Amino acid sequence: MPMHRLLAALLLSMLVHPAFAQSPDHFLMPMPQQVASGDGELTIDPAFTISANASSDARLHSAAERFLENLTTQTGILLTPQALVTEKAVLSVTADSPGDTPQKLGEDESYTLTVSSSGAELKAPTTLGVLRGMETFLQLIKPGANGFVVPAVTIHDHPRFPWRGLLIDVSRHFIPIKVLKRNLDSMAAVKMNVFHWHLSEDQGFRVESKIFPKLQQMGSDGQFYTQQQITDLIAYAHDRGIRVVPEFDLPGHSTSWFVGYPQLSSGDGPYSIERKWGIFDPAMDPTKDSTYEFLDKFIGEMAKLFPDAYFHVGGDEVNGNQWNSNPRIQAFMKMHQLKDDHDLQAYFNTRLLTIVKKHGKHMEGWDEVLHPELPKDIIVQSWRGQKSLAAAARQGFKGILSSGYYIDLMQPASQHYVVDPLSGDGANLTAEEAGRVMGGEACMWSEFVSPENIDSRVWPRTAAIAERLWSSQDVKDIDSMYRRLATTSDWLGRRGATHQSSYRPMLERIIGADGVPALKTLADVLEPVKGYRRGQLRKFTSQTPLNRLVDATRPESDIAREFNAAVDRLMEGKAHPDDAASIRSWMEKWRNNNAALQPRLGGSFLITEVAPLSSDLAALAAVGLQSLDAKEKGSTLSADWLQQQKPVFDSAAQPKGELLIMVLPGISKLAGITPAVPQRSQE
Ligand code: ACM
Repeated sequence: MPMHRLLAALLLSMLVHPAFAQSPDHFLMPMPQQVASGDGELTIDPAFTISANASSDARLHSAAERFLENLTTQTGILLTPQALVTEKAVLSVTADSPGDTPQKLGEDESYTLTVSSSGAELKAPTTLGVLRGMETFLQLIKPGANGFVVPAVTIHDHPRFPWRGLLIDVSRHFIPIKVLKRNLDSMAAVKMNVFHWHLSEDQGFRVESKIFPKLQQMGSDGQFYTQQQITDLIAYAHDRGIRVVPEFDLPGHSTSWFVGYPQLSSGDGPYSIERKWGIFDPAMDPTKDSTYEFLDKFIGEMAKLFPDAYFHVGGDEVNGNQWNSNPRIQAFMKMHQLKDDHDLQAYFNTRLLTIVKKHGKHMEGWDEVLHPELPKDIIVQSWRGQKSLAAAARQGFKGILSSGYYIDLMQPASQHYVVDPLSGDGANLTAEEAGRVMGGEACMWSEFVSPENIDSRVWPRTAAIAERLWSSQDVKDIDSMYRRLATTSDWLGRRGATHQSSYRPMLERIIGADGVPALKTLADVLEPVKGYRRGQLRKFTSQTPLNRLVDATRPESDIAREFNAAVDRLMEGKAHPDDAASIRSWMEKWRNNNAALQPRLGGSFLITEVAPLSSDLAALAAVGLQSLDAKEKGSTLSADWLQQQKPVFDSAAQPKGELLIMVLPGISKLAGITPAVPQRSQE
């Protein structure tokens, strides 16, 4: 049986098998702190009701209404708002207090969920805990033998870290509000609580300023959020227990500001919106009082618009070129005994900090802002390595980790999952220092992201990061993570995330509906190149359409991972009963697919680049099949023959159309042929 069918059958058998209901993890993600399974199960049927005690708390009330909608979406059981009752209910929900508005860092998110065959109770100190517990309840719903059920269970749960964020860069590519809301829904589903809104960049300034309207008028190509939209999004996030932290990246990454206000810059101008990707010279002029007068007014306006206590000022990747080539700035540095650009940036940050504090906010910045002279009440976001997070914590700064959580780099979920804010350099911190590590954030930089494919870059991998930040440090079994990630991915998809549903339309655009099955067979084992390689392989601008196969394929191929793991087992003599048959059936499919695909590869500019990938995959599969035959017959293939096949592997290891064939490692192992340049070294 092909592996995907096998997997589906296995999954189905687990869904209806009584052992599944007893499975201690219940496919939950993030894994709660304590789960105790009970006997029996609660039936979820059209008679389902929910009561929410403090319905005077508008947030709790709307959470209960949303819960019913989600329950209907998940099960197809048609529930109406009448299922929200004040008397005894099937699920009774109690929050001791409504929680804070705006939500605070470290606010209590704990909850207790008790489910028996006669009913369920969700209790929490605040509405925030109720929001988390409702998601757990929804995740527990499964089809049973006679209908939908929730297994009897007692769960005590609370987060390990108080800061569990997702950054979305809306500047390099603009991401509309409705796409952000969809992603906030998914964040809430996996209990994430900070949306880091990266709002300004060289390529775009995305917020309406009423005081300095040329910022959005000249710096955004007309793609920005009005203040009303921002206020609405913040309320939407708050309803879901998510803080919204704005970032205005200063003093670098700021070309878009200078299009309307060139006097802020350290160079001469004039400026235009940057269209390319990279690090650019323009930077704010830290030496002029007028810069700080501008920032004081601007930050004052934004501090009112964004109610969160934290305000992110960026601070990353200032190359110093404009500072170094400006004699006036050089003279200023001499006069103030600022020995280098880092000192000048610290000077800027110190003045910026005064402004941010004056407007009632804590300042946050990327790890470049770290400077011993700075006061300790700033929070450092570490992106250049775990070292800087540990260094910050040792120096007395609070910090969060993003190094290792860059989801734009197209790495597998397992790679992010093993990164722990308190591992690596963080493992040697004292308890007091470790207490300054607040959590982490997944970062969705948007060079290669559009509203159409952003969900597929964020989900499901970010759910694995969400678990790292919520669950106990000893929840780290990779197989368990992938097993639960698969069901969580489907769950998120049913609730509105488009990471699965956008795939087929993108393939259809490339090849037409009738070509999709063959293209999908290929695309299912491809992944975009890793790290920063894509930008090196081809020239891109912000206006390059993201409509190619590389934009449709998933960051992580489940089929390739399963295939490679089956080959590993086979080669190590630990094969499961169906492994050899699955491996054979997959390789036959890939070998034969090329004949189905090639006749369709003419005509469209979008499809031409697919041809060599398809023939590489077929050639690899053919070698793999011969190797498997030989292995099963106990014969060996001649060294000459193997040598002749090597160019197939050398070719397949090269990225094409910025894509990699991810079953190469498995077939390579099966055949005992190693390509000249290993695929993964090309990052
Ligand atoms: C960054 O990636 N420059 C924060």
